[in-house]
This record gives sequence, structure tokens and C-alpha cells, in this order.
Amino acid sequence: MRRNFLPLAAIVALSVVVAACRQDMHDAPRYDPLEASAFFPNGSAARTLVANTVPRGFLREDELLYTGKVSGQFADTFPMAVTADVMARGQERYNVFCSPCHGRTGVGNGMIVQRGFRQPPSYHEQRLREAPAGYFFDVMTNGFGAMQDYAAQVPVADRWAIAAYIRALQLSHSATVADVPADRRGDLDRPAQENQ
Ligand code: HEC
Repeated sequence: MRRNFLPLAAIVALSVVVAACRQDMHDAPRYDPLEASAFFPNGSAARTLVANTVPRGFLREDELLYTGKVSGQFADTFPMAVTADVMARGQERYNVFCSPCHGRTGVGNGMIVQRGFRQPPSYHEQRLREAPAGYFFDVMTNGFGAMQDYAAQVPVADRWAIAAYIRALQLSHSATVADVPADRRGDLDRPAQENQ
């Protein structure tokens, strides 16, 4: 009887010891969020970021590209070459994101306005005709008055493409026949579809 009891007692004792040593991941030695710490001098387990830390993708050293400014002033230049592809992209994005309020020609009579939303100013008024391209980028990036920003919906490159297209809308709005290259003036008399 005594002989059988010893191994059993050993197993029981061992299993108690082994169970006490369990270190599954659920109770690993770690700090919970905002837990106090006796280790760090300020008593907080949450460490502050090293000074000048920049999250990945947020370096944004190019001031013109990301703010529309050069040395803190709105710039009237573009951070990329304004090609026919950029204009086409700007037109397409403008018609999607801006024309519902600003209208396809930029006079401010989009469908949302016709249904009661506050009317934006026409892009063809003198103040906005003289506004630098960077200003349009800024309005899209940060919003303006009653208008929300479009930073989440319209990526940086597309915001610039839209700014370029608005510039074209403004130019064409007050263009004269003299602005049309001589060899294309004949096209003006043709129906619109033929000019595509
Ligand atoms: C939901 C309607 C709406 C949409 C969509 C919209 N806007 Fe506007 N926008 C407005 C209104 C309203 C104002 C005038 C806001 C105010 O004066 O409080 C305005 C003003 C502006 C101005 C003039 C700012 C000034 O100095 O007067 C610019 C430039 C502009 N929007 C550009 C854009 C561009 C570019 C887009 C597309 C990416 C866009 N908006 C999309 C409603 C809209």
C-alpha cells in the first residue's frame, strides 16, 4: 500500500508545480495599455515617441506638393508637369467630386446646390481667377467654410490634377477666338461631337 502511494503523491506534487509555472501568452509578463510602471522613472509604461519621430508615409518634405505653398505662401506653380493626361484625369475627378456643387463649368450651380445646399462662389469671379493654383489645392485639402475637405476622398496627385482642370475652366470661360490656335479655329464652327 505504502509503495503505491509514493509515485501517486509525486505525480500530484509535480503537476501542481508544473501548473504554477505555466506561462501561456495570455498571461505573459507585459504591460497593459496605460498601466503604471515601477521600472520607468515617470511611472508610465507607455513610452513617449523619440523627438522628431515621423510615422511611415508622413515625412512630406515637399512643401509645394503637400501644402500648395512655397516658403509659406500659396504658389501659382504645379509640383508636376501639366500634361494632357493630367488634364483628362483632373476633368474626370472634378466631374465626380466637385461638379455636384460647383457645376460642370464651375459657376456654382451643381445639382446639390439646386436642391438647397449653400451656393459656392463662381470660379470665374475675379478673386478666384487670381487665386494661385496652390490655393485650390489647399481648399480641397483643408475645406473652406461650409465646404468639407476632400483629403480623404481625393489623393494628393488628383487634387493637383483637379486644380489644373479648374485653371482650364477659368481660362476657357473668358477665352476669345484669338486664344484658339489659328489652325484649330475652323473646328469652332463644327458640332461638338465632331471635335472630340
Ligand atoms: C457639397 C458641395 C460641394 C462640393 C462637392 C465641393 N464644394 Fe467647393 N465649395 C462649396 C461651398 C458651399 C463653398 C463656399 C463655402 C463658404 O463660403 O462657406 C465652396 C467653396 C469652394 C472654393 C472657393 C473658396 C473661396 O475662397 O471662396 C473652392 C476653390 C472650392 N470650393 C473648390 C472645390 C473643389 C476643387 C471641389 C472638388 C474636389 C469642391 N470644391 C467640392 C461646396 C462644395
